[in-house]
Amino acid sequence: MVSDIARVLYHESTILSRLDEMAHRITEDYASKEVTVVSILNGSIIFMADLLRRIPLPLQLDSWSVSSYHGTKSRGQIHFRQSQIADVRGRHVLLLDDILDSGLTLQAIKEKLVAESGAASIKSCVLLRKNVQRGVEVEADYVGFDIPNEFVVGYGLDYNERYRNLPFIGVLKEDAIRRHAV
Ligand code: XMP
Repeated sequence: MVSDIARVLYHESTILSRLDEMAHRITEDYASKEVTVVSILNGSIIFMADLLRRIPLPLQLDSWSVSSYHGTKSRGQIHFRQSQIADVRGRHVLLLDDILDSGLTLQAIKEKLVAESGAASIKSCVLLRKNVQRGVEVEADYVGFDIPNEFVVGYGLDYNERYRNLPFIGVLKEDAIRRHAV
């Protein structure tokens, strides 16, 4: 599995130090607010677990299962796997996602929340932001790392459901992309 990685971008220790900084800012920004964190599964699961344990606020948590990717390309169509979302009326929603790439996922989720939730505010937090021209106008309010336009895996991020459990973020080799294509 590790041999499929062309190069490591961030080791776990670097990720965790960055999460300390992000958690500190989020804790200050949301002090005395009623917060609901909405995490986008499966990619954000490890990020969520490590970040939330660093935020000492009485927050609530909801998780959404959303899919858009097939292989290394976004299908452009966001599919929500659940029909019901938690009641966040009057609450401050912080969306957590693993990566901001085309922006289609975050945009679709924000639109759904604006239309259906009655939240007092909606902000987003991503671990990674890819340096690409985004076709949609969507920005993240909290960003862990800016990365180049390459397909990355590990620390929750997958390629056709592989590599999520790698304890670092790395660029996947072209050859592994071909071998594990479905
Ligand atoms: P968009 O393009 O909608 O992407 O901003 C959001 C979702 O796509 C997945 N994604 C990736 N997954 N390596 C991955 O393992 C990548 O480089 C990558 N780029 C996008 C991811 O699930 C994200 O939530």
